[in-house]
Amino acid sequence: FPSYKDYIGNLYNYRGCWYYPNTLQGVLNFEKGFKPQETDIILASFPKSGTTWLKALTIALFERLKNNSSNDLHPLQSDNPHGIVPFLELNLYLKSSTRDDLTKLSSPRVFSTHMPFHTLQVPFKDDPLCKIVYVCRNVKDVLVSLWYFRCAQLQKEVDMESLFESLCSGVGSFGPFWEHVLSYWRRSLEDPKKVLFMRYEEMKSEPSAQVKRLAEFLGCPFTEEEEKDGSVDKIMELCSLRNLSGMEINKSGKTCNNVPYSSFFRKGEVGDFKNHLTPEMENKIDMIIQEKYNGSGPV
Ligand code: A3P
Repeated sequence: FPSYKDYIGNLYNYRGCWYYPNTLQGVLNFEKGFKPQETDIILASFPKSGTTWLKALTIALFERLKNNSSNDLHPLQSDNPHGIVPFLELNLYLKSSTRDDLTKLSSPRVFSTHMPFHTLQVPFKDDPLCKIVYVCRNVKDVLVSLWYFRCAQLQKEVDMESLFESLCSGVGSFGPFWEHVLSYWRRSLEDPKKVLFMRYEEMKSEPSAQVKRLAEFLGCPFTEEEEKDGSVDKIMELCSLRNLSGMEINKSGKTCNNVPYSSFFRKGEVGDFKNHLTPEMENKIDMIIQEKYNGSGPV
């Protein structure tokens, strides 16, 4: 594989996407071993685009259909969204391509991924595609969010300039960003019943409409009664950054890869990049967006 050394370690290019070695092994194992089911739901994103939020909303939407007693602890109170909805390449297939246990999961199985669409679709071969929800976020906010996340992960201040260059050149974990977004964007236009394209900014500005859109796509729309009794608002509140980040499990727990759950919650604002990027950095990103999307992308 073509390789490149960045400030964390070696990156390898596979099918046009850059991965750290462990993750690449996870991708290869996934391609070899994953047996898709048509009822599966896969939550996809570029890192720091709102994955945790999308996972929480999906969990809450399905959980409300269960007839649990009010004494039962909600799954979001006993585990972090990343513990409940595992990543295919980062968790489930990291070590092995054999995961017979996944066939025993009840339907719909919900997984997540940061792989681009063309790699995710490999195990489907000629099988019908399952449902995929992609969440996309303004790349400038992704950059800032990623910077904070990396600083927390490495427990030292990462050079913003290097991270910026890595994002612009596309040589970074799961990059290039633009091709990642476009891979799902194009498929969502071709196959809107199978791929839902969501935007973090719209989830922030019109949460109720976006939660209903997600529920509809997932096949569990809100009933008229639910709309009247405030169920949509309850789900939004349950999954709000404030609520989730205040839960004990998210303050103290860690992912199986040793990432503190708390590092998935920060400000959750639209436009925080204005406090971190120089006008030159912004201009360069704007030019790349123009060049890459050429008027036919998601922005
Ligand atoms: P910021 O760093 O800009 O605050 P991901 O989940 O893909 O890793 O993305 C993390 C980003 O989503 C962080 O953005 C985080 O604060 C934000 N986020 C996490 N949970 C959220 C929620 N429930 N609602 C809104 N934003 C959330």
